[in-house]
Amino acid sequence: MKKIRTQFFCQNCGHQSSKWLGKCPSCNEWNQFVEEEVRSIDPAMSSEIPFNEAPLPIEDIVADEKERISTGMVEMDRVLGGGIVNGSATLVGGDPGIGKSTLLLQILQNLALQNLKVLYVTGEESAKQIKLRGKRIGAASGNLLVLVEIALENITRHIKDISPKAVVVDSIQTVYTSALGSAPGSVGQVRESSGKLILLSKKTGIPVFLIGHVTKDGSIAGPKVLEHMVDTVLYIEGDSGHAYRIVRGIKNRFGPTNEVGVFEMRDSGLSEVSNPSAFFLTERPEGAAGSVVVPSMEGTRPILIEIQSLVNPTNFGMPRRTAIGVDPNRVSLLVAVMDKVCGLHLSNHDIFINVAGGIKVNEPAIDLGIVSAMAGSFLDRPIDPGIAVFGEVGLTGEIRGISQMEIRIKEAARMGFTRCILPRTFSQVGSVEKKMDLIKINNVKELLEHLF
Ligand code: TYD
Ligand code: MG
Repeated sequence: MKKIRTQFFCQNCGHQSSKWLGKCPSCNEWNQFVEEEVRSIDPAMSSEIPFNEAPLPIEDIVADEKERISTGMVEMDRVLGGGIVNGSATLVGGDPGIGKSTLLLQILQNLALQNLKVLYVTGEESAKQIKLRGKRIGAASGNLLVLVEIALENITRHIKDISPKAVVVDSIQTVYTSALGSAPGSVGQVRESSGKLILLSKKTGIPVFLIGHVTKDGSIAGPKVLEHMVDTVLYIEGDSGHAYRIVRGIKNRFGPTNEVGVFEMRDSGLSEVSNPSAFFLTERPEGAAGSVVVPSMEGTRPILIEIQSLVNPTNFGMPRRTAIGVDPNRVSLLVAVMDKVCGLHLSNHDIFINVAGGIKVNEPAIDLGIVSAMAGSFLDRPIDPGIAVFGEVGLTGEIRGISQMEIRIKEAARMGFTRCILPRTFSQVGSVEKKMDLIKINNVKELLEHLF
């Protein structure tokens, strides 16, 4: 009998080792190694190797951009780079309960309405549970098939039999192949099952969506290699306390990355937010000290967000610094700059920063917004609600240019803002300047002069 060969795999990152280790040398996680069976390629499998083709001159290869299938949602199509590409594999990750199953069931329903036969494979829920969710989102098409199955061999057989126009596997961690002895959800199983599904997708041209669980640090559970194997990686962001959900493209072989789609979770599933700026500004308190609006870029699109700050003298001991939605280190740096350059001594003050609506922004352009909000609250002076600000702040208090300034100004103008404080380096002379009073500044000192 052939001896079973085993190796130890880190369940967090997929690192492989011949002996058990307490701490993973690759991702530094503790207690993640599990013994799993490794299989050498068995000759019977080689018939499954699909690409047995001769090399072709690139000019002879036919590939049409128009072959994309629309998801029926503008926001989703944008993230995918214009629709679903045939034979593509997409990995969808996100926290539990964020709406992964809901989103993909909605996409399949939309495809079914276009008279395409689609398949939803689930290993997490019963068919009844899917039906109940389907009722909420209005999925009732005869073209939408539901399969409750976790055995990879059965899943691939059904896909071959039905040859649907799209497949969703919810989730890849529940799928297991009998070719491996290890438990479902282990690194080996996830890698093997997704590999087979991706191969099948490439061979048949059927696009597959794999739903992936995330680990506690937010990355997709199982080997990082999974992200390399698929064509597109999407994350659904948002938090349970807020209704908005952002679908973000992390990797896309068929379109721009870092593109986002904005959705709102409603009773009837996810609904598209076509004007996110208005969505995030609905509850803005006009005329209150400590609030300012920044045009931020999410992928290629501008979204106006409101930054709020509360600066209060510390009652005892260490001042508290809390930043929600922005990088706390960035806030500390800006506090230091304000102290040194503007003479605003915030060091014995508690400082709270929040981005309204629960969205997270991580770009230097919001520096000016953070400074403005903190200064406003510290001085107790409201900022004119018609002002929008953006720009990066350097260590000497200089204001640095950022990307896509014109698009940001246009978005602010569209939302009715009349004045914009921005870096001096902006030099475009276009139609934007007529609608907007542009105040170009060199350093943070000038900012305060113009704000109050
Ligand atoms: P779900 O898609 O099951 O999340 P995931 O697959 O990412 O774990 O979404 C579950 C959450 O969404 C749940 O808290 C209920 C909420 N929800 C709505 O608010 N409205 C709806 O129409 C649906 C279907 C779900
Ligand atoms: Mg789910």
